[in-house]
Amino acid sequence: MEKHIVVLGGDGIGPEITTEAVKVLDAVTCRSGHKFTYEYLKIGGCSIDEYGVPITEDNLKRLKECDSVLLGAVGGPKWDGCPSEIRPEKALLKVRKELNLFANLRPSRLFQQLSGASPLKEEVLENGIDLMMVRELTGGIYFGERCTKTVDGEEVAQDVMKYSHHEIERIGRVAFEAARKRNRKLTSVDKANVLDSSKLWRKVMHQLSKEYEDVTYEDMLVDNAAMQLVRNPGQFDVVVTENMFGDILSDESSMLTGSIGMMPSASLSGNTLGMYEPIHGSAPDIAGKNIANPLGTILSAAMMLRYSFSMTEEADAIEKAVNTVLNQGYRTADLTKDPNNYVRTKEMGSLVAEQLK
Ligand code: IPM
Ligand code: MN
Repeated sequence: MEKHIVVLGGDGIGPEITTEAVKVLDAVTCRSGHKFTYEYLKIGGCSIDEYGVPITEDNLKRLKECDSVLLGAVGGPKWDGCPSEIRPEKALLKVRKELNLFANLRPSRLFQQLSGASPLKEEVLENGIDLMMVRELTGGIYFGERCTKTVDGEEVAQDVMKYSHHEIERIGRVAFEAARKRNRKLTSVDKANVLDSSKLWRKVMHQLSKEYEDVTYEDMLVDNAAMQLVRNPGQFDVVVTENMFGDILSDESSMLTGSIGMMPSASLSGNTLGMYEPIHGSAPDIAGKNIANPLGTILSAAMMLRYSFSMTEEADAIEKAVNTVLNQGYRTADLTKDPNNYVRTKEMGSLVAEQLK
């Protein structure tokens, strides 16, 4: 198969880590006979610097025409002063919306070799961690009306959290289907004891659960979910939740497994075009130092092969290669307490790529 991939390196450590993921994708082509071509485009702060906007209309159009998108990260202190309409993060939200990437899959799996890096106690990790967070990505408070105004001489700001039936139903279906392919358990996280948007969320999820009787379904309030994730993460299989709750809980669940640097993600629209990115962000403090962990991006590339290109074997091979390299004892700086003994970004990428050749 021949696939055309747009690579959006972005800001901070983004370009370094996407370079390593491309190295690994190229290693996959060596032995599989697939051909990947790459187109490098700007997004975020680097696009603001060059074009004055975080993403140009032309680049947005190119994204819609490619087979899949690999993204590093956007943002950094340099652009913190930008007006909110042209902040680097705006580009990410725009791409999600324009490409209709409403389903964000964020898997957290504990690699046994890394359990020492987890902040959780050994006894809490006994059941392992293997959960899939399904985060709604194009609705809710991220996309509701917002404004800042002066009322009675005082500044007032508001953001609206809004969900419609169909938005909830389509993300619910993605989550139930994911649960069917895994351990058939789904936890829907909401705040239905307070919010109307959550009451509708829960109602739609309950309706759907009748269609998926082979999946064990439960509701959980978001505050309790935050607590249960550290108390007993092994209880979760698939978790589905709205946009902002998912943003917060997925950072939490990624840390449980040792480092946010390991966590990949896929943003999907229901057709094969998807966007794949690590969830950790641009880490400007370590940018350009060749010490970032590229594994989250490499595992995101594996998700691209799995979800966009149906290359299951190749995706498995990348995940297995990462596992092998970790088994061999290689650690990036974020995964070890030993300041003198770690592998750097490029080396980690090469180690994984070597396994695939
Ligand atoms: C994420 C990020 C983004 C989000 C930011 C950069 C807008 O934190 O992908 O989780 O909040 O969705
Ligand atoms: Mn986030």
